[in-house]
Amino acid sequence: MTDTPAPAPAAEFWEARYRDAGRVWSGRPNELLVQEAGDLAPGTALDLGCGEGADAVWLASRGWRVTGVDISATALERAAGHAAEAGVGDRVVWERHELGPSFPAGSFDLVSAHYLQSPVALDQQAVLRAAARAVAPGGTLLVVLHAGWPSWQTEPPFDAVFPTLDGVLAELALPEGEWSVETRRTARRPSVSPDGVEGFREDHVWRLRRAGGC
Ligand SMILES: C[S@@+](CC[C@H](N)C(=O)[O-])C[C@H]1O[C@@H](n2cnc3c(N)ncnc32)[C@H](O)[C@@H]1O
Repeated sequence: MTDTPAPAPAAEFWEARYRDAGRVWSGRPNELLVQEAGDLAPGTALDLGCGEGADAVWLASRGWRVTGVDISATALERAAGHAAEAGVGDRVVWERHELGPSFPAGSFDLVSAHYLQSPVALDQQAVLRAAARAVAPGGTLLVVLHAGWPSWQTEPPFDAVFPTLDGVLAELALPEGEWSVETRRTARRPSVSPDGVEGFREDHVWRLRRAGGC
C-alpha cells in the first residue's frame, strides 16, 4: 500500500472552487496588470496565484516568457488550454505549488501577484517576501490586493483582514536602498452585485523596482 499524504485544506478548497464551476474568472487580463506592466520591456515573468491564466497569457502574448503558479491543478489545466488557444503555449510553463510551504525556483524580471487572497490558510507575508527575493536585479515586483469588500457587500461572506498600503510595504521588509517604490496607490473600479446593485471596489497596487541590472 502506498502512503499518499493527505492534500492540504487550502488545496482542497481551491481545487473544489475550480472543479465545481465551469469558469471562475473573466478570461481577461487584470486591468491593473495592463496599466502597470504595459510599459515594461519583456523578459521572464512569474505569475503567483495565476488562476485560469488570463494574466500569464496576456504577458506571453506581449513577449514575456512566463511561469504561472497556482495551487489548483484544474485552474492550471484550464490556463494551459487558454494559452494554447492564444498561440502562446510554448511561452508559458505551469507549476503547481502551495505557496508558503513551497515556492518556484529561479529569479524573474517581473514577479506579479494579483489578488493572492484566500479565505483559507495562506501565509501572505511569507509569500510576498519570497516573491521579492525572486525578483532579478533591475526587475519589478507587482502586487495587487483587494483593499476591502465591494461597496454593495452589506454582509461579508467571511471574516477577512484587508491590507493597507503602508502595512504591506512594512511586512515586505525590503533591504534598505535596494528597492524603489514606483507605484503605491489605491485604485477604484465599478463593481456590480449579482443582483444588479451598482457600486465600486477598491484595490491597492504596489509596483517596486529592484536596483541593479543593466
Ligand atoms: C482570488 S484568486 C486570483 C486569481 C488570479 N490571480 C486573478 O487575478 O484572476 C486567488 C488565486 O490564488 C490561488 N491560491 C490561493 N492560495 C494559494 C497558495 N497557497 N498557493 C498557490 N496558489 C494559491 C487560488 O487557487 C486562486 O487561483
